[in-house]
Amino acid sequence: MIERLKTGVKGFDRLVAGGIPRGFFVAVVGEPGTGKTVFSLHFAWQGVVEGDKVIYVTTEESRESIIRQAEMFGMDFASAVDEGRMIIIDALMKSKGDEWSLEEVGVEEMVKKVIEAKRRLGYGRARLVVDSMSAFWLDKPAMARKYSYMVKRVLYRWDFTALLVSQYAITSSFAFGWGLEHVADGIVRFRRAVVGGELRRYLLVEKMRQTPHDLRVHRVDIKDGVGMVVLGPVKIRREDLALPPDVVRRIVRAQDAARREVGEGEDVEG
Ligand SMILES: Nc1ncnc2c1ncn2[C@@H]1O[C@H](COP(=O)(O)OP(=O)(O)O)[C@@H](O)[C@H]1O
Ligand SMILES: [Mg+2]
Repeated sequence: MIERLKTGVKGFDRLVAGGIPRGFFVAVVGEPGTGKTVFSLHFAWQGVVEGDKVIYVTTEESRESIIRQAEMFGMDFASAVDEGRMIIIDALMKSKGDEWSLEEVGVEEMVKKVIEAKRRLGYGRARLVVDSMSAFWLDKPAMARKYSYMVKRVLYRWDFTALLVSQYAITSSFAFGWGLEHVADGIVRFRRAVVGGELRRYLLVEKMRQTPHDLRVHRVDIKDGVGMVVLGPVKIRREDLALPPDVVRRIVRAQDAARREVGEGEDVEG
């Protein structure tokens, strides 16, 4: 029997046979504003609820911003931190004298800090979120794969089930993201589109080892006071992509070419 960790995202766990297998490193990828951080907050909070040791590394928002955002969805990160159930490692603010802040944004420093945090929280099942990994290879995208591999190899024995977030600008999809996706046990991809003049969000489980996972694109909602909710499956069309038409055409062409190269089928209707 595979032990599966609930994500705490309403409607998500049924897409992955009940949850994310313990010990997995799952890539959470998507463009800005698609819901990667909100998804990660739920996963972290579910850990607190279940008594897991929770470590949240934030590189693009401050610790305070993460706490405020979580609070809007009824998750009390501040108390969890105070009670020693959770450590938020701030890799953005570089506050001097703050034990859980990263002075340098480097993968090795981050991994060291995460292990230190795990030691502090104590023995037992743990959850890790790194939001995001992209910050570590911003100026050296070619290192993405090596860094991702290193993170997995080193943290593997610390009983983490991890979400590794990757900024996935659709225009730079070939420079970012791939490194992480190659080492990941699972991939959850977020997307956005404007349909009928309205922003919509979608989610697709692209990969989950040892899991008969759902293969459809699902609509996702983010509700004030509640957080993320996974709605029913949909078919999205190419022309719904929320970018100027000429940009979309170029991207679609590039993606088609890449897919042909790796021998994959179409995953977008249109
Ligand atoms: N209290 C809230 N109520 C409704 N929607 C919210 C609330 N807080 C944030 N959001 C939505 O979540 C989005 C941010 O999602 P986020 O997970 O941070 O995206 P990213 O993929 O960049 O990490 C915002 O742009 C907003 O649409
Ligand atoms: Mg984010």
